[in-house]
This record gives sequence, C-alpha cells and structure tokens, in this order.
Amino acid sequence: MKKVTVVGAGNVGATCANVLAVKNFLDEVVLIDIKEGLAEGKALDIWESAPVLGFDTRVNGYTGDYTKTANSDVVVITSGLPRKPGMSRDDLIKINAGIVKEVSEKVVEHSPDAIIIIVSNPLDVMTYAAHLATGKPANKVFGMAGVLDTARYRAFLATELGVSPNDIKALLMGGHGDTMVPLPRYTTVAGIPVTDLVSDERLEEIIHRTQKGGGEIVNLLGTSAWYAPGASAAQMVESIINNQKHVFPVCTQLNGEFGQSDVYLGVPVKLGSEGIEEIIKIDLNEKEMADLNTSSNAVKSVMKALDDMHLFD
Ligand code: NAI
Ligand code: 2OP
Repeated sequence: MKKVTVVGAGNVGATCANVLAVKNFLDEVVLIDIKEGLAEGKALDIWESAPVLGFDTRVNGYTGDYTKTANSDVVVITSGLPRKPGMSRDDLIKINAGIVKEVSEKVVEHSPDAIIIIVSNPLDVMTYAAHLATGKPANKVFGMAGVLDTARYRAFLATELGVSPNDIKALLMGGHGDTMVPLPRYTTVAGIPVTDLVSDERLEEIIHRTQKGGGEIVNLLGTSAWYAPGASAAQMVESIINNQKHVFPVCTQLNGEFGQSDVYLGVPVKLGSEGIEEIIKIDLNEKEMADLNTSSNAVKSVMKALDDMHLFD
C-alpha cells in the first residue's frame, strides 16, 4: 500500500495531488485542508478524471481529519499563504511558520515514519521549522525548491536553444530566493557544455530571469505559481516512493558541506526510499562559493528571524 498525503488543497497542493494521481504509481493520495469542503471537492474532481485519464490511484480529501492520513509513506506540506504582489517570501514567515509547525506535528502523530517534503514559503526556513517541529532526522524532512528553480532555468534554456527541455541537464544551489545560484559550469545540453552554445551575456540574462522566476509569475497572475511547483514536488515523491535515486537539488540541513553549517540550503542530493541518501559533493570555484555564501547569509538572516519568534522553545 503506497500512500501519500498532501497538506494544503490550494493551488500547489491540488496540482501536486493531480500530478501524483495521473502518474499512477500510488494506491492512495490524501488531500487535507483547513477550509471546509475544499480538499473533498478537489479530490473528488481529480478522482472523476480517472476514467478519462486512465489512472487507478484513489484520491480522497478531508477537512482537518489527520486520522485519514495515517501511515502515509510521504507527506507533502503546501499549507500556508502564497506570496502576493509586493510581498517578499520572507514576509510570509510569521504566518507560515505557525501553520507548518501545527501541521507537521499532526502529520508525525499519525505517520511517524513518513518522509516529509516542505513546499510552504519561505522555503528554506519552513524546512528548518518543520525539522524543529518534528525532530526527525534531516534525511527525512527536507524542502522542495531546487527542482522548480532548475526546471525554470532548463525551460528558459530550452526556449533559447530551441531544443527539448529534457536535454537540458542543470544544477542550481542555494536558497529559494533571488540569491539562488544557478551553475552554468554544471549545465549541459545533451552532454554539451551550455557555455559552448550560449554566450556569456545571454547566460547571465537567463540566470537573472531564473532568480526572479517566482516573481515573474506573481507579477503576471497576482499570486504565485502552481503548475511547475506542484509537478516538482510530485517528481520528488516519485523518486522516493519508487526508489529512483534521482539527483535533485533539495533543501536540507548542512553540517559543513560546501563550507556551510547551521543553515538549510539547496544542494545536490540522491533521493530514494530512505529520503536524502547522499549529499553529492561537487567542486565550486571562487565565484560560485562567494555566491553560495551570499545565499547562505540571506537564509541565515531569516532563520534568525524565526529563532527570535521563539516558536520552538
Ligand atoms: P493556496 O492559498 O492556493 O493554498 C494554500 C492552502 O493551505 C489553502 O487552501 C489553505 O486553506 C491551506 N491552509 C492554510 N492553513 C492550513 C492549515 N493550518 N492546515 C491545512 N491547510 C491549511 O497557496 P498555494 O499557491 O498553493 O501556495 C502554498 C504555499 O506554497 C505558499 O506558502 C507558497 O508561497 C508556497 N510555494 C512554494 C514554492 C516552492 O518552490 N517551494 C513554489 C510555489 C509556492
Ligand atoms: C515560486 O518560486 C513563489 O516560491 C514561489 O514560484
């Protein structure tokens, strides 16, 4: 019995549940929300697409009933407010930290062995909050951002070169914010270094667009993205449940890796049935290290803001 719970049946959560169902590798997806009827309605709508799309995965929604989430293998936490125009991710910290704390405590009560993927923003600091709230080891509670940010970077490069996005292999590290660190030295087009195919100037522009990719969608839609974020979280779930051992950038606690300690940052990891099975070490040059340090310092300042709230004392 393979079971995944998605907490938050809003834009990202419902999309994640939908993608998981359509991929058809789970027995059950449970959607949970605090808003009366929302999870039930979205789950029912997804389930009613099963005969058309040809999947068997049961999709069930509940309002706040965590007993129905019992024995989940993986739980994706998307509950929280999305970013509105003019609002930074960090503005969200107060409200979302409280929500992530409450929700992750309930999740662990009913699924003590579940692997937890955090999506709520500000992502790196909400991952820290969930780690504090659950007391689980860092390989079992981690955050989704790098898969999305790398997907945006890959999509922009695919558009630039007119090639399949699947041929773009790329890596991006750091926090989920404007200081994220796309790595052209670790980006290829079907194995060909991207730096051989795209000028330095255009690459800089594409990196800049990637760093501002979340804000670009907010400015267009008036709320934050959900299709790519929901699909990105679902891809992480699939790698865990099916023990695929994909290498993805994932937000995790660092204890000296890449010269970073006491911070949660996106780094390349191997994702399998044990969660984060390995942090993959790569060489960074002076500029890349400096950029990672800048990103690390930005995340640390928000972690300090969370510490100063004494929510977990
Ligand atoms: P949304 O507003 O559409 O959905 C959030 C849902 O959470 C709502 O349905 C709300 O009722 C529910 N909720 C609030 N408190 C709850 C609680 N205590 N228990 C259960 N459910 C609760 O927002 P959306 O667009 O789905 O975004 C969700 C979060 O994901 C936001 O914090 C957003 O910033 C973040 N996000 C993160 C990304 C990433 O890359 N890590 C990408 C996109 C969004
Ligand atoms: C995004 O990157 C806002 O974190 C959200 O789309």
